[in-house]
Amino acid sequence: MLRDRYGRSIEYLRLSVTDRCDLRCSYCIPKGFKGFEEPQHWLTFDEIERLVAAFSRLGTRRLRLTGGEPLLRRNLAELAGRLSSLPGIDDLSLSTNATRLVHHAAELRAAGVSRINVSLDSLDRACMQQITGRDSLGMILDGIMAGKAAGFDPIKINMVALRGVNEHQIDAMVAFCIEHQFVLRLIEAMPMGATGRDATWLDLGPIERHLRRHFGLIHQPATLGGGPARYLATPDGRTSVGFITPMSQHFCADCNRVRLSVDGTLYLCLGQEDKVEMRPLLRGGASDAELEQAIRAAIELKPEKHEFREQPGKIIRFMSQTGG
Ligand code: 5AD
Ligand code: SF4
Repeated sequence: MLRDRYGRSIEYLRLSVTDRCDLRCSYCIPKGFKGFEEPQHWLTFDEIERLVAAFSRLGTRRLRLTGGEPLLRRNLAELAGRLSSLPGIDDLSLSTNATRLVHHAAELRAAGVSRINVSLDSLDRACMQQITGRDSLGMILDGIMAGKAAGFDPIKINMVALRGVNEHQIDAMVAFCIEHQFVLRLIEAMPMGATGRDATWLDLGPIERHLRRHFGLIHQPATLGGGPARYLATPDGRTSVGFITPMSQHFCADCNRVRLSVDGTLYLCLGQEDKVEMRPLLRGGASDAELEQAIRAAIELKPEKHEFREQPGKIIRFMSQTGG
């Protein structure tokens, strides 16, 4: 089991398979951005599998495929199948914007992806166009329904709440998710890169109080999936609404994860620079024991907490560069 200097056990790896995306969410990739990672730097499926196997030997049980938009990586279902069959990996999930999920839901489910998180910031077509830079709402809703039909369970919907942009959509999003039994998670925008810094994050404290009253949501003691979200349950207990509050409330003490970007950089924290390059080891003939030792040493570097409030200018990479 991997344990860091602060006693946190690290058993969850988020793996970015591309830094590219077909959307340009205002708080994420800058418009006109040209600096995407070169294909020769992308870890190959063989390299990814070898590295994930090393993590699993060190106790990693949960794996999430992220990006960028992971479905832009060709043959993602093949990779998913290889990773879900690794001994020790007992939970494989996917974060997607769902624009292409219609075409891939069934094969990904068959390849062992059990759960998906979909980014959806509004149910209003013009509002989604404004946020994502494309007329994306229709494709995304079709993708979500294809995901439901393919049997992903649960389906979580991630909504980045932006002051003055989509805050008026929160009630509609809650109602939609209750109707379809999706788990809605509201997220405070983080100052990652200039795009993230320019996003006006919304304090979710008052929103939580409003939703308790308006939808009769009640405290839910159990956490869902061991992540940073705090959850409220609907009165019938059939679904829940989560709050991810990196800005208004730290949750770093319970952090259980690290992130691997598409070029093989292991980031120890979303909000710090601490990282270790794994690609040179993979391409330089390192043995399995050396890979494991490098992972152990990296975990030693995991910082105590992010400093998004104290140092909002610190992180110049935007979300799709680290992996969401
Ligand atoms: N702050 C918070 N969430 C972000 N995402 C992308 N950029 C930011 C940011 N600056 C979210 C996406 C998606 C997840 C992968 O990360 O909306 O839900
Ligand atoms: Fe793409 Fe997700 Fe970034 Fe939006 S937040 S641009 S969907 S990677």
